[in-house]
Amino acid sequence: MSAKSYKTIEVNPIAGALGAEIEGADLSADLSNEQFDDIHQAFLDHLVIFFRDQKLTPEKHKEFGRRFGTLNIHPYVKGMEGHPEIMRIVKEPEDRLNFGGGWHSDMSFLEEPALGSILYAKDVPPYGGDTLWANQYLAYETLSDGMKKTLEGLKAVHTAKAEYGREGHSAQKRKGMEVNRAEGDVPAYEHPVVRTHPETGRKGLYVNPAFTERFVGWTRRESQPLLQFLYEHCTQEPFTCRFRWTKGALAFWDNRCTQHFALNDYHGHRREMERVTVNGDRPV
Ligand code: SIN
Repeated sequence: MSAKSYKTIEVNPIAGALGAEIEGADLSADLSNEQFDDIHQAFLDHLVIFFRDQKLTPEKHKEFGRRFGTLNIHPYVKGMEGHPEIMRIVKEPEDRLNFGGGWHSDMSFLEEPALGSILYAKDVPPYGGDTLWANQYLAYETLSDGMKKTLEGLKAVHTAKAEYGREGHSAQKRKGMEVNRAEGDVPAYEHPVVRTHPETGRKGLYVNPAFTERFVGWTRRESQPLLQFLYEHCTQEPFTCRFRWTKGALAFWDNRCTQHFALNDYHGHRREMERVTVNGDRPV
């Protein structure tokens, strides 16, 4: 679809692989169905879309998310007071670790992982703290026919054990996150390594270093070399875009066909974000 197909917004790509800035939408207003359809289409076309200078209350943030589906309440991270669907992601000047500082697809450890995430910038550092995204359709499409065949029908085990289990639990606390679930008891789910996007019908790679443990029927040791190859392949620079945050900017990304990475290059400065996560369906 070309930019000319949008009736109510202007859509300006920020990179060749994915990502576009949207102009002409005020997300604090009631979106007409026509504008919602345009935004939805831009989201499917560009995988991650950005809006600048938004003034959103927690209610309006959630309202925008609800246009796309039901909202997730994170099973391990405590939500905002009075708004359990909103995750506060804050790095204070004295913190060293950041949340999301590794390639991942949000909530792939759930039986029904997230459709999308909507991240709103409340406070940004004077430099750094950018977020990167990688296009997982491109990652799949650029594999050889031989590798595509090897991956066909293969499933992988996804779990939050490493991030929110015994060791991850304390690391999350050091990232300033309030973890609200007891240690241990972290479930695992099997998802196809190549998933078909339920709305576009396109195939994309669906493994990520944060939550993918191993291939189903393979040991961890057997899985590591191929998983490592796929992680490196699917986050190559030509498949990525990078967004420079400004206060009031909002990013809405599709977790079904992207991975993202929050850069941690602004020690001594504050960054405060709020995230609403839209529930998705079981990958096929
Ligand atoms: C996340 O992984 O959802 C956080 C991304 C960011 O803070 O840039």
